[in-house]
Amino acid sequence: MESLAFSVLYTLPEFARGVVIRRPAMVGLMARLRTYDAAQRFCMRLRVRHGGRSVYVRSLRGKVLLLLSQGDVERVLSGSDEVFSLRTKEKARGFSPSQPDSLLLSRGEARLDRHRFNDAVLQPGTVPHSLAPRVERVVSEELDGIFGREPGAVDWGRLRAGHSRAVLRLTLGDAARDDVRILDALNALRREGNWLGLRPWRNGRVRRLRRVMMTGIERHLAAAGGESLAETGEGSLGGSAETGEGSLAGLAASAPATAGTCPAGQVPHWLMALEVLGTTVFGPTLALLAGHPEHYERARAEALDPAGDRAFLRACLYEALRLWPIVPTMPRVVTAPVAWHGATLPAGTDLVIPVGLHTRNPQIDYADAFTPEAWLDGRAAADWWIVPFSAGPGRCPGSDFGGTVGAAALAALLRQYDFRPVAPRLGPGRPLPKALDPFTLRLYAAPAMR
Ligand code: HEM
Repeated sequence: MESLAFSVLYTLPEFARGVVIRRPAMVGLMARLRTYDAAQRFCMRLRVRHGGRSVYVRSLRGKVLLLLSQGDVERVLSGSDEVFSLRTKEKARGFSPSQPDSLLLSRGEARLDRHRFNDAVLQPGTVPHSLAPRVERVVSEELDGIFGREPGAVDWGRLRAGHSRAVLRLTLGDAARDDVRILDALNALRREGNWLGLRPWRNGRVRRLRRVMMTGIERHLAAAGGESLAETGEGSLGGSAETGEGSLAGLAASAPATAGTCPAGQVPHWLMALEVLGTTVFGPTLALLAGHPEHYERARAEALDPAGDRAFLRACLYEALRLWPIVPTMPRVVTAPVAWHGATLPAGTDLVIPVGLHTRNPQIDYADAFTPEAWLDGRAAADWWIVPFSAGPGRCPGSDFGGTVGAAALAALLRQYDFRPVAPRLGPGRPLPKALDPFTLRLYAAPAMR
């Protein structure tokens, strides 16, 4: 009975919403059906019934251990990523059409190698990222004036298009600005991935799309590598942020790599993660700010301060990611027998962390309220219920770079426009909805008075 409820309330809605790329119609439908509310009530009942212990349930991929306590989440995420592997069968099926050689799908030696490479480019833990000045400039070039001079409803399509151009420039260099074929192919591959390998007859199409995407990526990587060599004489910088050059591709040219690294194979994940900010994160963050005047004023003051460190804007973005995580389910698979509360989890045990449910646990006193301060005072980082970027050895190495890009975009938008909420209104007066449909969110923007 518990398994049936878990499938109906959680697994099937997650599959319908799209695990690799969101299906807008399904995101809207699930938000209207309030499946997340029901799943969370179910999860709380399970916690009470089983005294907070993790429990086995059946899901689409068979029997899985559902992690229901903070202690178990901490144990798995902070444990070895070789024992609690990120590469589950389901993830491999979902992501191999678009990124078969990425860090996310790697194990063993290849994983260590690709981790080193990703870390050198993405610089986790370094704020500001070495490309930060360049990020500010590119984002402002692409987003300034994006909604025109007349007040009116925010046109998300324009914002997404401007952001995509910034993403291509920052990832692959200025010459990639209008190479939308790369993103189109990537998104088509992600849509194939949503079917988790259930449509094998489409493999030919997948190969063709991947050829288009990889040919474009390799061409821009080669050009960026050449430029960085020419600039420095030794290829050690990958473009200078100060002179307006520079991209992740440029940094990749001098990052440590071996024959097994596959630098081009890391790029689809970077493009995907950066693009998601524009499709599903900026809207909710702006809507939260528009509904919370005090926070809005603080964010706008930071946006107008050219010397500001953007810390509050980053916190607002991270808080939107806590409230509506873009990775709401984190699966892991056990690769070797491991001791577990006096028993043993055999190799092959599938684990599921329902991050999107835990993050609204009523034990968090600000669970359903917009609380960006929690990212500044250390509360969010210290809480194992709150892991929108994962944690431990599988923690997202791009969270700081993503925060830099996201904060720059929010700053550019808040400098230019005044935003007012239309629907839904996300104010402090009542709990924030458990699910939000970013594709039908309505905001009003008017050119800002200086
Ligand atoms: C800002 C929003 C972002 C969020 C919420 C986010 C979240 C995550 C999460 C939860 C994971 C772990 C997935 C799992 O354990 O199954 C992950 C992994 C990863 N992310 Fe991000 N990410 C973000 C942005 C980025 C950006 C901008 C990049 C690169 C440009 C990036 C690169 C990566 C990579 C390479 C991995 C694989 C890590 C590994 O396998 O150890 N992410 N991300």
